[in-house]
Amino acid sequence: MRKAVIAGNWKMHKTNGEARLLARAIKAGSAGVSHCEVVMAPPFTALAAVAEELKGTPLILAAQNVHWEAKGAFTGEISIPMLKDVGCGMVVIGHSERRQYFGETDASVNRRVRAVLESSLKPIICIGETLAERESGNHHSVVAQQLAGGLDSLTRRDLLRIILAYEPVWAIGTGRTASPETAQEMHGMIREWLSGRFGEEAQTVRILYGGSVKPDNIDALMLQPDIDGALVGGACLEAESFLRIIHYRL
Ligand code: 13P
Repeated sequence: MRKAVIAGNWKMHKTNGEARLLARAIKAGSAGVSHCEVVMAPPFTALAAVAEELKGTPLILAAQNVHWEAKGAFTGEISIPMLKDVGCGMVVIGHSERRQYFGETDASVNRRVRAVLESSLKPIICIGETLAERESGNHHSVVAQQLAGGLDSLTRRDLLRIILAYEPVWAIGTGRTASPETAQEMHGMIREWLSGRFGEEAQTVRILYGGSVKPDNIDALMLQPDIDGALVGGACLEAESFLRIIHYRL
């Protein structure tokens, strides 16, 4: 009932030429895929080039961030109308790297999410605890707080449009994936939280796992009942590994 999503977060990688080659290879290797939605989030500078490559395919273009205002004096920012104009269908919000290095907070995540929900774009909202928070046993409360802040004043209807990505910071770029059981435990907790706050719409929300997802661990992760897809960093930068992840086997 929840269609899986396999999303690649390219982070700060790929010039336009490189981006076109990667998008082309992924397009070719995922032709006919219908078991999941395939999403690519290149850097802003490559959105237009990748959009051209993906034209006429079901592949979804996403941006890695967006500002909440439609336009104005916000040097260095990108607006929702700009993303729609270039062909984006989704946008990543609140990635832990934005939170860690660029001062993103639950409140600013919430402003972005609310603005996106007023448009036709879908937000992929990232949450996840740091290693210190997990080791001190606070991972549930940290994630619950991120959910409460990031999803503040959303309605049950909004829930039908959001995608969540649970990305434990200690698993990002470290090669240290959460075990399928650890990830499932957190995804279950997140769905329970959603259920308590919003009711049965919680069952419709896709919750992706992110953090060192690779060809050799995707199958076991996707077997978990509350893992509805993956947000992939490093392994999405090569067509071969991203395609193997798209073609996960249950
Ligand atoms: P890695 O897959 O490189 O660990 O990155 C995960 C991530 O941050 C995706 O948004």
